Amino acid sequence: MRTSTDWPSPARSGLMGHLPRWGNDALGLVEDGGRVGKIFELQLWRKALVGYSPQWNRLILGDLAGFPSRGGLSQLSPYLRGGVVSTEAPEHRKRREALNPEFHRRAVARFGDRFADLVAKSHPSGRFDARTWSSAMVRTMLSAAFFGGSVPRSVLDDFLEPLDGTLPGPLIPRPLRMRRMSAAIDRALRKPDPDSLAPVFAVQPDPVREARVALAAAYDTTAHTLAFALWELAGCPDLLRTSPVERVVQEALRLYPAGWIGSRVAAVDTVFEGRVIPAGRLVLYSPYLTHRDPELWPDPTVFRPERFSDPVPAWGYLPFAAGERTCLGSGLATLMLGTAIAGLADCHLTRVSTRLDVRGVVTLTPAAPIMLERRTVPAGRFPGEPTRGGPS
Ligand code: HEM
Repeated sequence: MRTSTDWPSPARSGLMGHLPRWGNDALGLVEDGGRVGKIFELQLWRKALVGYSPQWNRLILGDLAGFPSRGGLSQLSPYLRGGVVSTEAPEHRKRREALNPEFHRRAVARFGDRFADLVAKSHPSGRFDARTWSSAMVRTMLSAAFFGGSVPRSVLDDFLEPLDGTLPGPLIPRPLRMRRMSAAIDRALRKPDPDSLAPVFAVQPDPVREARVALAAAYDTTAHTLAFALWELAGCPDLLRTSPVERVVQEALRLYPAGWIGSRVAAVDTVFEGRVIPAGRLVLYSPYLTHRDPELWPDPTVFRPERFSDPVPAWGYLPFAAGERTCLGSGLATLMLGTAIAGLADCHLTRVSTRLDVRGVVTLTPAAPIMLERRTVPAGRFPGEPTRGGPS
């Protein structure tokens, strides 16, 4: 039988394989890989197989025991070490069962009004960087939802800020910031605000770490998606007139899946499409490549929320991954995104930046400011509605 060494592979740079390019242009490397095959091999610090077909996604996401997370990419980030993110089967299921009810879409809906107030108080004005605005907005919402606003903002900002940068920023350990954040979370969990998620964290086995890791997992993912969504809104100012907010959110998560690549490790030799994935092999799934596959998504690079009026392809839409490790915060994330976008419905946004610079870091990251301009729309008119004599 042929082995996985037979998988196609994008061009390498000498003895270092794909590692140098992974360090400075991981997204470009993975896009090149996607052009040589639906499953391709990368020579990183260890060999990895990357795939993006629905069958591949189902294989590696649908079987937690056969493809555990331990030894995967998320463990490279000091922010994501610990809590449910680092727990394996069978304990993983117990942890999720303890957390899931409070994070369910219907349970987090209670934060909707508070988020809407916070967004209404923070409207951007004039020229602004959508990246900075989105990051601040998401920190504000997370601070309210996680701790009822009881954690000092400067501590939260210092802790989360490195996650907005490119490599190596998000991978550098920052023990002092981490300790300060942990101490502030510890105080918040001792007297948990009943209108927040703090009570559920307070009763977990390692409560401070669980809350801290969840906070990190929640932050840059949501902030970057929001920034990308604003870029698209500014490119088509009547988007919110033609498409419901939920579809705009779904489409932003399709075109810019913050969790652009994720990993598992093969526990045993596994035969897939006639070839062997050897035990111990790092296996990667890529929502980014899956969501941009023209066989699954016609005109994949076009931002078109109406495409979500049709059912999504099975195992072909995974902004929050899938299976038992599906994102804990998907309901909270879509609520934050939907509320922030709906809150800007009376803002007429236009683009000042001429291009979007997207990088694949730990999350999909806007690597340069996204300069937009906000103009106020006179009462009674919808943003994007032409005025006499040209756009307002
Ligand atoms: C747009 C925003 C978000 C995106 C795109 C996103 C994406 C993802 C993805 C793809 C995974 C699976 C990683 C893997 O195992 O391969 C994941 C896991 C996770 N996410 Fe999110 N996420 C978002 C927001 C949030 C929020 C708001 C929270 C808040 C609690 C959160 C908490 C978590 C946790 C705790 C896990 C680990 C789940 C487990 O291993 O059982 N995420 N997320």
